[in-house]
Amino acid sequence: MTLILEARAVTKRFGGLLANDGISLSLGDTPGQVTSVIGPNGAGKSTFFKILAGYAAPSSGSVHLFGEDVTGMKPHRIAARGMVRTFQETTIFPQLTALEHVSLAHQLHRQSGDLPAFLDTRHARRDETRLNEEALAVLELLDIGRIAHEVAQNLPHGFLRLLGMAMGLAAKPKVLLLDEPYAGLNPEETARAVELTRRIAGQGVSILLVEHDMKAVMSISDYIHVLYFGKKIAAGTPQQIRDNPEVIEAYLGKEDEELGI
Ligand SMILES: Nc1ncnc2c1ncn2[C@@H]1O[C@H](COP(=O)(O)OP(=O)(O)OP(=O)(O)O)[C@@H](O)[C@H]1O
Ligand SMILES: [Mg+2]
Repeated sequence: MTLILEARAVTKRFGGLLANDGISLSLGDTPGQVTSVIGPNGAGKSTFFKILAGYAAPSSGSVHLFGEDVTGMKPHRIAARGMVRTFQETTIFPQLTALEHVSLAHQLHRQSGDLPAFLDTRHARRDETRLNEEALAVLELLDIGRIAHEVAQNLPHGFLRLLGMAMGLAAKPKVLLLDEPYAGLNPEETARAVELTRRIAGQGVSILLVEHDMKAVMSISDYIHVLYFGKKIAAGTPQQIRDNPEVIEAYLGKEDEELGI
Protein backbone atom coordinates (compact mmCIF):
# COMPACT_ATOMS: atom_id res chain seq x y z
CA MET A 1 0.00 0.00 0.00
CA THR A 2 1.34 3.41 -0.97
CA LEU A 3 0.28 6.09 1.47
CA ILE A 4 -1.14 9.22 -0.13
CA LEU A 5 0.75 11.43 2.29
CA GLU A 6 2.96 10.72 5.22
CA ALA A 7 4.67 13.12 7.63
CA ARG A 8 7.40 11.51 9.70
CA ALA A 9 8.43 13.24 12.91
CA VAL A 10 8.23 16.70 11.39
CA THR A 11 9.99 19.18 13.64
CA LYS A 12 10.36 22.93 13.16
CA ARG A 13 12.32 25.21 15.46
CA PHE A 14 12.11 28.97 15.45
CA GLY A 15 15.01 29.86 17.77
CA GLY A 16 14.03 28.37 21.09
CA LEU A 17 10.45 27.67 20.03
CA LEU A 18 9.43 24.22 18.87
CA ALA A 19 6.57 25.12 16.54
CA ASN A 20 6.31 21.50 15.34
CA ASP A 21 7.60 18.81 17.65
CA GLY A 22 7.90 15.43 15.98
CA ILE A 23 4.55 15.43 14.21
CA SER A 24 3.73 12.20 12.39
CA LEU A 25 0.56 11.51 10.50
CA SER A 26 -0.55 9.82 7.34
CA LEU A 27 -3.41 9.84 4.90
CA GLY A 28 -4.01 6.17 4.08
CA ASP A 29 -4.58 4.99 0.54
CA THR A 30 -8.24 5.90 0.09
CA PRO A 31 -8.60 9.09 -1.96
CA GLY A 32 -11.27 11.69 -1.30
CA GLN A 33 -11.20 11.65 2.48
CA VAL A 34 -11.22 14.75 4.64
CA THR A 35 -8.57 14.81 7.35
CA SER A 36 -8.46 17.74 9.74
CA VAL A 37 -5.69 19.20 11.85
CA ILE A 38 -7.01 21.17 14.79
CA GLY A 39 -5.53 22.86 17.83
CA PRO A 40 -5.59 26.15 19.71
CA ASN A 41 -3.97 29.30 18.28
CA GLY A 42 -0.22 28.94 17.90
CA ALA A 43 -0.36 25.12 18.07
CA GLY A 44 1.73 24.87 14.89
CA LYS A 45 -0.93 24.02 12.31
CA SER A 46 0.01 26.59 9.66
CA THR A 47 3.70 25.87 10.15
CA PHE A 48 3.00 22.18 9.55
CA PHE A 49 1.02 22.92 6.38
CA LYS A 50 3.79 25.17 5.07
CA ILE A 51 6.25 22.34 5.53
CA LEU A 52 3.98 19.83 3.81
CA ALA A 53 3.48 22.07 0.77
CA GLY A 54 7.12 23.15 0.50
CA TYR A 55 6.80 26.74 1.73
CA ALA A 56 9.09 26.00 4.65
CA ALA A 57 11.70 23.34 5.33
CA PRO A 58 11.49 21.26 8.51
CA SER A 59 14.36 21.37 11.01
CA SER A 60 14.14 17.58 10.97
CA GLY A 61 11.72 14.89 9.87
CA SER A 62 10.37 14.18 6.41
CA VAL A 63 7.33 14.40 4.14
CA HIS A 64 6.40 11.65 1.69
CA LEU A 65 3.88 12.06 -1.09
CA PHE A 66 2.71 8.87 -2.81
CA GLY A 67 5.81 7.21 -1.44
CA GLU A 68 8.23 9.84 -2.69
CA ASP A 69 10.30 11.90 -0.27
CA VAL A 70 9.35 15.52 -1.06
CA THR A 71 10.95 17.09 2.01
CA GLY A 72 12.28 20.55 1.22
CA MET A 73 11.08 20.51 -2.42
CA LYS A 74 9.81 23.81 -3.81
CA PRO A 75 6.02 24.32 -3.81
CA HIS A 76 5.68 24.09 -7.60
CA ARG A 77 7.51 20.76 -7.67
CA ILE A 78 5.25 19.42 -4.94
CA ALA A 79 2.23 20.82 -6.83
CA ALA A 80 3.40 19.00 -9.96
CA ARG A 81 3.33 15.80 -7.88
CA GLY A 82 -0.25 16.44 -6.85
CA MET A 83 -0.31 18.41 -3.59
CA VAL A 84 -1.18 22.10 -3.33
CA ARG A 85 -2.39 24.50 -0.71
CA THR A 86 -5.00 27.09 -1.54
CA PHE A 87 -3.99 30.63 -2.25
CA GLN A 88 -4.54 33.29 0.38
CA GLU A 89 -6.20 36.58 -0.42
CA THR A 90 -2.76 38.19 -0.58
CA THR A 91 -2.25 36.33 -3.86
CA ILE A 92 -5.29 37.99 -5.43
CA PHE A 93 -4.76 40.69 -8.06
CA PRO A 94 -7.49 43.36 -7.87
CA GLN A 95 -7.53 44.04 -11.63
CA LEU A 96 -7.69 40.45 -12.86
CA THR A 97 -10.94 38.57 -13.41
CA ALA A 98 -11.81 35.39 -11.55
CA LEU A 99 -11.17 33.37 -14.70
CA GLU A 100 -7.76 34.99 -15.18
CA HIS A 101 -6.86 34.12 -11.59
CA VAL A 102 -7.63 30.46 -12.10
CA SER A 103 -5.75 30.33 -15.43
CA LEU A 104 -2.81 32.10 -13.85
CA ALA A 105 -2.79 29.70 -10.91
CA HIS A 106 -2.88 26.81 -13.35
CA GLN A 107 0.27 28.13 -15.03
CA LEU A 108 2.02 29.04 -11.81
CA HIS A 109 1.48 25.58 -10.38
CA ARG A 110 3.06 24.06 -13.45
CA GLN A 111 5.96 26.36 -14.05
CA SER A 112 8.55 28.03 -11.90
CA GLY A 113 5.98 29.70 -9.70
CA ASP A 114 7.48 32.96 -10.87
CA LEU A 115 5.13 35.58 -12.27
CA PRO A 116 7.55 37.41 -14.65
CA ALA A 117 8.61 34.07 -16.13
CA PHE A 118 4.98 33.25 -16.74
CA LEU A 119 4.29 36.56 -18.45
CA ASP A 120 7.31 36.08 -20.73
CA THR A 121 6.45 32.70 -22.12
CA ARG A 122 4.73 32.36 -25.47
CA HIS A 123 3.63 29.06 -24.12
CA ALA A 124 1.32 31.04 -21.85
CA ARG A 125 -0.91 32.02 -24.75
CA ARG A 126 -0.72 28.82 -26.75
CA ASP A 127 -3.31 26.84 -24.85
CA GLU A 128 -5.43 29.77 -23.90
CA THR A 129 -8.77 28.36 -25.03
CA ARG A 130 -8.32 25.03 -23.34
CA LEU A 131 -7.03 26.81 -20.27
CA ASN A 132 -10.07 29.06 -20.13
CA GLU A 133 -12.40 26.10 -20.47
CA GLU A 134 -10.66 24.27 -17.66
CA ALA A 135 -10.65 27.37 -15.50
CA LEU A 136 -14.36 27.86 -16.08
CA ALA A 137 -15.03 24.24 -15.14
CA VAL A 138 -13.23 24.78 -11.83
CA LEU A 139 -15.30 27.91 -11.11
CA GLU A 140 -18.45 26.00 -11.98
CA LEU A 141 -17.53 23.15 -9.67
CA LEU A 142 -17.57 25.76 -6.90
CA ASP A 143 -20.82 27.29 -8.15
CA ILE A 144 -19.13 30.59 -9.03
CA GLY A 145 -19.10 30.33 -12.81
CA ARG A 146 -21.20 33.48 -12.97
CA ILE A 147 -18.34 35.62 -11.60
CA ALA A 148 -15.84 34.38 -14.18
CA HIS A 149 -15.52 37.79 -15.82
CA GLU A 150 -15.75 39.95 -12.70
CA VAL A 151 -12.53 41.64 -11.62
CA ALA A 152 -11.41 40.60 -8.15
CA GLN A 153 -11.70 44.07 -6.62
CA ASN A 154 -15.48 43.92 -7.11
CA LEU A 155 -15.87 40.57 -5.36
CA PRO A 156 -17.01 40.23 -1.76
CA HIS A 157 -14.94 38.31 0.80
CA GLY A 158 -16.88 35.05 0.51
CA PHE A 159 -16.23 34.90 -3.22
CA LEU A 160 -12.55 35.70 -2.79
CA ARG A 161 -12.30 32.73 -0.43
CA LEU A 162 -13.86 30.49 -3.05
CA LEU A 163 -11.61 32.00 -5.69
CA GLY A 164 -8.59 31.07 -3.53
CA MET A 165 -9.94 27.53 -3.43
CA ALA A 166 -10.51 27.55 -7.19
CA MET A 167 -6.91 28.65 -7.72
CA GLY A 168 -5.74 25.70 -5.66
CA LEU A 169 -7.96 23.34 -7.65
CA ALA A 170 -6.60 24.70 -10.94
CA ALA A 171 -3.57 22.49 -10.44
CA LYS A 172 -5.85 19.42 -10.47
CA PRO A 173 -4.43 18.31 -7.15
CA LYS A 174 -4.76 14.88 -5.62
CA VAL A 175 -4.20 16.39 -2.20
CA LEU A 176 -5.52 19.82 -1.28
CA LEU A 177 -4.40 21.64 1.86
CA LEU A 178 -6.95 24.12 3.18
CA ASP A 179 -5.79 26.48 5.96
CA GLU A 180 -8.84 28.05 7.62
CA PRO A 181 -10.98 28.17 4.47
CA TYR A 182 -14.08 29.19 6.42
CA ALA A 183 -12.53 32.03 8.43
CA GLY A 184 -14.53 35.24 8.11
CA LEU A 185 -17.52 33.52 6.53
CA ASN A 186 -20.99 33.82 8.05
CA PRO A 187 -22.81 30.61 9.05
CA GLU A 188 -24.70 30.41 5.78
CA GLU A 189 -21.55 30.93 3.70
CA THR A 190 -19.72 28.39 5.88
CA ALA A 191 -22.42 25.78 5.32
CA ARG A 192 -22.09 26.31 1.58
CA ALA A 193 -18.30 26.20 1.66
CA VAL A 194 -18.46 22.97 3.69
CA GLU A 195 -20.76 21.51 1.06
CA LEU A 196 -18.34 22.55 -1.68
CA THR A 197 -15.45 21.03 0.23
CA ARG A 198 -17.41 17.77 0.29
CA ARG A 199 -18.00 18.08 -3.43
CA ILE A 200 -14.26 18.48 -4.06
CA ALA A 201 -13.53 15.44 -1.89
CA GLY A 202 -16.25 13.60 -3.80
CA GLN A 203 -14.16 14.06 -6.93
CA GLY A 204 -11.42 11.99 -5.31
CA VAL A 205 -9.33 14.86 -3.99
CA SER A 206 -7.94 14.09 -0.53
CA ILE A 207 -8.38 17.08 1.71
CA LEU A 208 -6.28 18.15 4.64
CA LEU A 209 -8.05 20.88 6.56
CA VAL A 210 -7.02 23.33 9.27
CA GLU A 211 -10.06 25.03 10.70
CA HIS A 212 -11.21 26.63 13.95
CA ASP A 213 -14.91 26.22 13.19
CA MET A 214 -15.45 23.02 15.18
CA LYS A 215 -18.98 22.51 13.98
CA ALA A 216 -17.66 22.44 10.41
CA VAL A 217 -14.70 20.23 11.35
CA MET A 218 -16.83 17.72 13.22
CA SER A 219 -19.34 17.50 10.40
CA ILE A 220 -16.93 17.13 7.50
CA SER A 221 -13.93 15.17 8.81
CA ASP A 222 -13.32 11.47 8.37
CA TYR A 223 -10.37 11.73 10.73
CA ILE A 224 -8.90 14.43 12.99
CA HIS A 225 -5.42 15.07 14.36
CA VAL A 226 -4.99 17.43 17.31
CA LEU A 227 -1.93 19.63 17.84
CA TYR A 228 -1.12 21.35 21.09
CA PHE A 229 2.04 23.44 21.56
CA GLY A 230 3.62 21.84 18.51
CA LYS A 231 2.93 18.26 19.55
CA LYS A 232 0.31 15.86 18.27
CA ILE A 233 -1.72 14.94 21.33
CA ALA A 234 -4.55 12.95 19.78
CA ALA A 235 -5.97 11.48 16.60
CA GLY A 236 -9.25 9.79 15.84
CA THR A 237 -12.71 10.03 14.38
CA PRO A 238 -14.75 13.14 15.21
CA GLN A 239 -16.55 11.19 17.94
CA GLN A 240 -13.30 9.94 19.46
CA ILE A 241 -11.86 13.45 19.44
CA ARG A 242 -14.95 14.91 21.04
CA ASP A 243 -14.70 12.34 23.83
CA ASN A 244 -10.92 12.55 24.33
CA PRO A 245 -10.10 13.98 27.81
CA GLU A 246 -6.70 15.32 26.68
CA VAL A 247 -8.34 17.24 23.84
CA ILE A 248 -11.00 18.64 26.13
CA GLU A 249 -8.24 19.67 28.54
CA ALA A 250 -6.30 21.41 25.73
CA TYR A 251 -9.38 23.43 24.89
CA LEU A 252 -10.43 23.86 28.53
CA GLY A 253 -12.21 27.08 29.21
CA LYS A 254 -13.34 27.55 25.66
CA GLU A 255 -14.76 24.14 24.87
CA ASP A 256 -18.25 25.50 24.49
CA GLU A 257 -17.49 27.79 21.58
CA GLU A 258 -14.39 26.11 20.14
CA LEU A 259 -14.94 22.40 20.46
CA GLY A 260 -18.65 22.53 20.14
CA ILE A 261 -19.23 20.19 23.09
N1 LIG B 1 8.32 32.51 10.75
C1 LIG B 1 8.23 32.37 12.09
N2 LIG B 1 9.20 32.82 12.91
C2 LIG B 1 9.10 32.66 14.26
N3 LIG B 1 8.07 32.07 14.88
C3 LIG B 1 7.06 31.62 14.11
C4 LIG B 1 7.07 31.74 12.68
N4 LIG B 1 5.95 31.19 12.18
C5 LIG B 1 5.25 30.75 13.25
N5 LIG B 1 5.91 31.00 14.40
C6 LIG B 1 5.48 30.62 15.75
O1 LIG B 1 5.24 29.23 15.74
C7 LIG B 1 4.11 28.89 16.53
C8 LIG B 1 3.11 28.15 15.67
O2 LIG B 1 2.56 29.06 14.72
P1 LIG B 1 1.49 28.62 13.63
O3 LIG B 1 1.21 29.80 12.81
O4 LIG B 1 1.97 27.39 12.97
O5 LIG B 1 0.24 28.27 14.57
P2 LIG B 1 -1.26 27.92 14.15
O6 LIG B 1 -1.59 26.65 14.83
O7 LIG B 1 -1.42 27.99 12.70
O8 LIG B 1 -2.06 29.09 14.86
P3 LIG B 1 -3.44 29.84 14.40
O9 LIG B 1 -4.54 28.90 14.81
O10 LIG B 1 -3.45 31.08 15.23
O11 LIG B 1 -3.36 30.08 12.93
C9 LIG B 1 3.59 30.22 17.10
O12 LIG B 1 4.10 30.40 18.40
C10 LIG B 1 4.14 31.25 16.13
O13 LIG B 1 4.33 32.48 16.79
MG1 LIG C 1 -2.57 29.19 11.41
